[in-house]
Amino acid sequence: MPSLARYLTPVLSNRSVADEFYELQFHWPAEAAVPRPGQFLTIRSSAGSVPLLRRPFAFSRYDRDDNSARIIYQLRGTATAQLAAKRPFDTVDVLAPLGTAFPLPEPDTRPILIAGGIGIGPILFLARTLLGHAVAPRVLIGARSAGGLPPLPAEEYGDVIACTDDGSYGHRGTVVEALRSYLDTTSISNYSGESVLYLCGPGPMLAAAHRLALECGITAYVALEQTMGCAVGACMGCAVRVRGPERYARVCTEGPVFDSRSIDWRSSS
Ligand SMILES: Cc1cc2nc3c(=O)[nH]c(=O)nc-3n(C[C@H](O)[C@H](O)[C@H](O)COP(=O)(O)OP(=O)(O)OC[C@H]3O[C@@H](n4cnc5c(N)ncnc54)[C@H](O)[C@@H]3O)c2cc1C
Ligand code: FES
Repeated sequence: MPSLARYLTPVLSNRSVADEFYELQFHWPAEAAVPRPGQFLTIRSSAGSVPLLRRPFAFSRYDRDDNSARIIYQLRGTATAQLAAKRPFDTVDVLAPLGTAFPLPEPDTRPILIAGGIGIGPILFLARTLLGHAVAPRVLIGARSAGGLPPLPAEEYGDVIACTDDGSYGHRGTVVEALRSYLDTTSISNYSGESVLYLCGPGPMLAAAHRLALECGITAYVALEQTMGCAVGACMGCAVRVRGPERYARVCTEGPVFDSRSIDWRSSS
């Protein structure tokens, strides 16, 4: 059974998909473990010493047909600028797969997938995976404005509601506001036991969605994107407060996917 390993693997493509967002596609070695939605990898973006640390990114897609995997990343600082300069046939230094995956929904449940900002990659990966299992998810994707949204074809991701803070495309407002009105208009009281939320995005968005899920009696799974050090469980740099006697959990090994009820959200709202 293949497990965590380091791969030096060729870039297949690296293209802009939205304002400040790129999609990097790279060869996925046949001997490597198949990545699942929610899991992540770390990349050493440069052969030099800057930046020193590997950077974590969630898988946004895996294609068995052509042995490739992808991430969608936002330009932030040094590492992501170095990634954006990669061209086909360059090599990426990848450590993967890391972390836990989203649990797939039980039969007869209604999956609702929600992403904001850099959370878009794992949620689109989950949407494609569910469609591949003949499960049609409802997908809500949020961005500040239209330019921050990648192409979201229904045949690849199912029924997508796009939301922009400035109203330049789709629903005006946050994804959590759109979720509330979607739940209201679909008579959530008839469905609450059968719906399940899957979320990835900024902490305040996750905390607000968690509160809404509690209000409606819905299970919510969140993929956290805590800043990381080692990414393999050794440094505690990614610890988050959780409920219960353990008090802290490491996002890199016990997560990044958690049942939202296990997280102590007090510092995230
Ligand atoms: C499990 C996991 C999955 C992730 N998946 C993705 C992904 O799919 N796509 C993506 O674009 N990014 C993702 N990230 C965040 C990504 O790791 C950072 O954006 C990246 O490390 C920035 O590196 P940099 O050197 O370019 O910027 P840096 O110079 O390291 O940081 C630049 C700015 O970005 C902020 N920043 C850095 N890391 C994070 C973070 N984790 N969350 C929020 N803000 C951060 C810093 O505060 C700083 O202001 C993920 C992080 C984790 C832990
Ligand atoms: S980043 Fe080191 S323990 Fe998680």
